[in-house]
Amino acid sequence: NNDYKEIIVEYKGKRQNVALVRLHRPKALNALCASLIAELTHALASFDKNPDIGCIVLTGSEKAFAAGADIKEMQNLTYDYTYKSDFLANWEFVHRTKTPIIAAINGYALGGGCEIAMSCDILYAGDNAKFGQPEISIGTIPGGGGSQRLTKAVGKSLAMEMILTGKPIDAQEAERKGLVSKVFPKEVLVDEAIKTAEVIANQSKMAARMCKQAVQTSFNVGLDEGLKYERTIFHSTFAVHDRKEGMTAFVEKRKPNYEDK
Ligand code: CAA
Repeated sequence: NNDYKEIIVEYKGKRQNVALVRLHRPKALNALCASLIAELTHALASFDKNPDIGCIVLTGSEKAFAAGADIKEMQNLTYDYTYKSDFLANWEFVHRTKTPIIAAINGYALGGGCEIAMSCDILYAGDNAKFGQPEISIGTIPGGGGSQRLTKAVGKSLAMEMILTGKPIDAQEAERKGLVSKVFPKEVLVDEAIKTAEVIANQSKMAARMCKQAVQTSFNVGLDEGLKYERTIFHSTFAVHDRKEGMTAFVEKRKPNYEDK
C-alpha cells in the first residue's frame, strides 16, 4: 500500500509472506502521533485479513524505533477529552493483531515506543537500542501498558527503577533481564528479524495464531485456568486440516503442505 505517509510497508521472504513495517516520521524520531497510529492500525488489520502474510516485522530507523507518544499533540489535552475519548485505548490493536509480530528495535524505544515494542510477540534489539519509560520526567505515567508489561517482563524492582527515575536501559541489560530475546549489531537487526519471521510465516498460519493466543493467555489468567485454555486450543487443532497434514508429513518423512484451514 503506497498511500501511507508515516509508515513504509514492504513484503519480504522467499514467498513474500513477511510484512515489514517501518515507522517513518524521521523528523520527530517516530513519535507516535494519531495519524501514524491510524496508519499502523490499518496496516496490521489488513495483514490479519491477508492470507499471504504469516508474520510481521515492525521496526523504526537506526536512530529510533519510536521516541514515545507525540508530546506536542498531548501538551494541551484535557482530562475531559482523554476520559471521554478513552485516549490511547486504540493502541491495543498491536496486542489484538492475530498474526505474530516481531519488533526489531534500533535506537530509542521510549515511553509509547517501548510500550508498542512490548505489545509485540518477539522483541529483538540492535546493539544501540535504549528502552525506557521516561513519562515521569514530563509529569505523567506510562499510558500504553508500560507499567504492566514492563513489570511482567523484567520484574518489579527494575520496572520500578525505570518508571520512577525515567532512565533507560541499554540492549545488553534488556537482554539479560528478558525484555528482548536477542541482540544483534544494528546493521543486521532487521534482516535477522526477517529470517525469524520467515520461519514463522512458513508454519501453519492457524497453528501460529493459536500458539500466540495460548502464550498471550498466560499473562491474563492463573496456571490452572491457563492449562485448561491451552488444552482446549490444543484439542481444537484436531479439527484443523494443517494439524493432520503436519503429523502425516512427519510420519511420511516429507514436508507438510499447509493450507491455512
Ligand atoms: N513527541 C514529540 N516530538 C518528539 C518526541 C516525542 N515523544 N521525541 C522527539 N521528538 C521531536 C523533538 O521535539 C525534535 O523535534 P524539533 O526538531 O521540531 O524540535 C525531534 O523529535 C528530534 O528530537 P531531539 O532534538 O530531542 O533529539 P535528541 O537526539 O536530542 O534527543 C531523545 C532524543 C532523548 C529521544 C529526546 O527527543 C526525548 O527525550 N524525547 C522524548 C522522550 C519521551 O519523553 N517519551 C515519552 C513520551 S510520553 C508517552 O509516551 C506516554 C505514553 O506512555 C503513551
